[in-house]
Parts: sequence; structure tokens; C-alpha cells
Amino acid sequence: MRKKIIAGNWKMNMTFDEGQKLTSEIVNMFKDENIQDVHIVLNPPFPHLFPVKKLIGDTPGVYLGAQNCSDKESGAFTGEVSAKILASFGAQYVIIGHSERREYFKENNELLSVKVKQALEHGLTPIFCCGESLEIREAGTHEPNVKFQLTDSLFDLSADEIKKVVIAYEPIWAIGTGKTATSDQAQEMHFALRRHLGSKYGKDVAAEISILYGGSMNAGNAADLLSKPDVDGGLIGGASLKSRDFIEIVKSY
Ligand code: G3P
Repeated sequence: MRKKIIAGNWKMNMTFDEGQKLTSEIVNMFKDENIQDVHIVLNPPFPHLFPVKKLIGDTPGVYLGAQNCSDKESGAFTGEVSAKILASFGAQYVIIGHSERREYFKENNELLSVKVKQALEHGLTPIFCCGESLEIREAGTHEPNVKFQLTDSLFDLSADEIKKVVIAYEPIWAIGTGKTATSDQAQEMHFALRRHLGSKYGKDVAAEISILYGGSMNAGNAADLLSKPDVDGGLIGGASLKSRDFIEIVKSY
């Protein structure tokens, strides 16, 4: 049974005190609601890793993630943070290939493929992001475009390796815009991506891979999106910065 995951991508937000408050509130609410079958992942900016992990402690179902990792193992790469270092701080997940990194930091499929391997090598679960621009959506070529992102970055992994990867489908036109994909649009793409994974690795392996939706998911639309058979959770930006909003999304699963 593939995992249900609600991950919060804080992006470049939260001072130390704000991050500590948000984390404490989320962990306490998660415990109070006694949520059993959904995993939550908090992905703060790097400096928060240690203090956030301390607040998460060993709370069942609550995990620490990062928003990126280097393609390098270690060494003279100023400003970079390796998967090895992330793992040493107790991170268990790492977002790789977010559209903002592809756009602003020119991360291409080849680089992302190496980052995924670094994450897997150090025991981290990659949350591999894919998704199309508005231009591609309007041209109707979104399915082949997004499938190619998987092919070009992931399809050299073994079946055992790909089973450890979480996919996040994030239509770029829905990120931060309030213009969420409809649940049917999300299901259509998730189904297509799962079928694409199955064409390479077989249906049984594809059925084990969690595919999250990201792009203006919030407490108001989460239940509809999460009700779809091939939507296995969410990767949440803005709505992850308020504890109540984030927990409402988790509860709506
Ligand atoms: O990684 C999740 C993020 O890209 C979605 O952002 O603000 O549309 O939920 P948002």
C-alpha cells in the first residue's frame, strides 16, 4: 500500500522563532488529532533542520525534509548542502527538481538525476517534482512533456530504487497562483504518470509509488483533490505556513 503523504514546502520563509512556533503547533495538532494513516513531512529552509528535528523528535508519522540537496557527495562546493549532511541531521525526505529551482537555478534533468541518486545513496526519500508551464498546458502537450521529465531523470533507476522515490506533480501554472488544477485534471495526469512508470517498471511497481499533487492545494480544495484514486497526497506551499491550514489539509484526507 503506497504511502499517503502531506508535505509542507516552506520555501524561503520563516525566521527561527516563526519556524519553531509553526513546527510546535503542527506537531501538537497532529498528535491531538491522532492522525494514523497519513505521513506529514516538514521541509524548512536548511538552517531550521536541527531545531525543527528536535521539535519533531520521534513523533510517529512526522518527518523532516529538505528543499534541495547538492549533486555532490562532499567537498569544496561553497554554499551547497549534501544529501549526506542532510541525513546526518535526521532528514528523511528531500525535494528535488522543484520548478522554482529548475527556473531560477537552471537545474536540468541530467543534474536532477544525479541529485536523486545522491539522495537514495544516503537513505533519503526524494520527492521528485515535475510539471508543465501554462504555455505547454494551453498547447495540450503537457502529458508528453511531464512524462519526459520522469524518463530523463528517473528511468535509469532500478525497480528497487524507483520504489523509494515519491513523485510530486506540480503544474507550474497552479503554483502560488491560487489557480488550482481541478481534481479531474490532477487525476488525469497522475494516472498518466503512473501508467508511464508502469510502462518502464511494470504495473505492480508503479502501484507502489506515491504521486503527490502540488499547486495551490488548501483546506478548501484538498478533500476533492485527495479523493482521487491516483492522488496520494499533497506538496503544499503557502498553506503549509499556517499550522491550522496545514492540519486541515491533513485531516481532509
Ligand atoms: O512545492 C509546493 C509548492 O510549489 C506549491 O505552492 O503555494 O501553490 O501551495 P503553493
